[in-house]
Amino acid sequence: MADKGKFAHYMLKEIFEQPQGLRDTIAPRVSLKDGTVRLEEVRIGEDELKALRRINIVASGTSRHAGMAGQYMIQDLVNVPVDVDYASEFEYRNPLIGRGELTIVITQSGETADTTAAQREARAKGSRTIAISNVVDSTIAREADGVIYTHAGPEISIASTKAFTAQMAVLFLFALYLGQVRGKLSKDQVRRYISELLELPKKVETVLESAPDCERLADKYHKMESFLFLGRASHYPVAMDGALKLKEVSYVHAEGYPTGEVKHGPNALIDENLPVVIIATCDRNDLGSLLRYQKNVANIKGFKQQSGRVFAIASQGDEEMRQMADHTIFMPQASELLLPILEIVPLQLFAYYMAVRKGLDVDRPRNLVKSVTLE
Ligand code: F6R
Repeated sequence: MADKGKFAHYMLKEIFEQPQGLRDTIAPRVSLKDGTVRLEEVRIGEDELKALRRINIVASGTSRHAGMAGQYMIQDLVNVPVDVDYASEFEYRNPLIGRGELTIVITQSGETADTTAAQREARAKGSRTIAISNVVDSTIAREADGVIYTHAGPEISIASTKAFTAQMAVLFLFALYLGQVRGKLSKDQVRRYISELLELPKKVETVLESAPDCERLADKYHKMESFLFLGRASHYPVAMDGALKLKEVSYVHAEGYPTGEVKHGPNALIDENLPVVIIATCDRNDLGSLLRYQKNVANIKGFKQQSGRVFAIASQGDEEMRQMADHTIFMPQASELLLPILEIVPLQLFAYYMAVRKGLDVDRPRNLVKSVTLE
């Protein structure tokens, strides 16, 4: 497994392993025929799940970004309030949590010190915990009430890629499961989502075909010193993670921001020297998504008037976006809550090719370790 095969770096190999990681994570837990999601590994009784008042998600770095996407999934599908915290900040805000609540901790390694401490704090306060971990029998997995494993396979590159998409898939499965247990989702609704989940790996394969475009973009822009990544709603975590990937592997400054916040400050920075990467996909079956799309179009027009350079991640067939943006990478159609799993892929590839273009040690960026086991 720990062989780079035909790939120059583990990061690239792991980006390309995402379809398989998603298949292995999703397929054993769903039945299309019955319209059900099976998650016995949650190990929390249905009565308790029905009575949950609130869910806290706690994680670090990329795993926290998955948690942010999970917040939209769970709130939208199950209608239970969800808070998301940085594991490293959790104890400082004296979290007001306790019985009747669930804390989900997300971690690739299962050994991150801040996340371990946060889980212990949640348990000490009486909250039940579920770990989403990629490493079997890790410290965090052992200490949780229930564990839902991501089956992304070993992740060697320091920058997390395939664990991230598998974490989002698990959060979506959990949202379906909870929605099913609480009678929030009908069998038909669950079946429709399962069918879409099962199609995801193929769609990721299609998105991976954009690798040469991402490489060309990196060739063209590798001298830029700063990038702004923007997204609204469930696409905001994607913007955050796209910026984090670029920072950590290519040492280029990048910031992830909610698109609507730009006019409250960062807009002053946008000109030809600060490229904007904007997630501007649209699920045409979702009214909220359509409304947000129109706002994104207005934002992009504004950036162009300021001489900004715009890279858009857009939906297949969106000619308006192709005309407006300087560069567009197209995503297959998918529902709003699942689009993030596709959208992150070109951003991972872009960060990768930027690092390669700059001759950096892609798999082992300076000053970073794979698992932060000291607080
Ligand atoms: C970024 C990255 C880190 C980790 C973070 C949490 O690419 O890899 O931000 O996501 O250190 O690590 P885990 O998920 O192992 O708890």
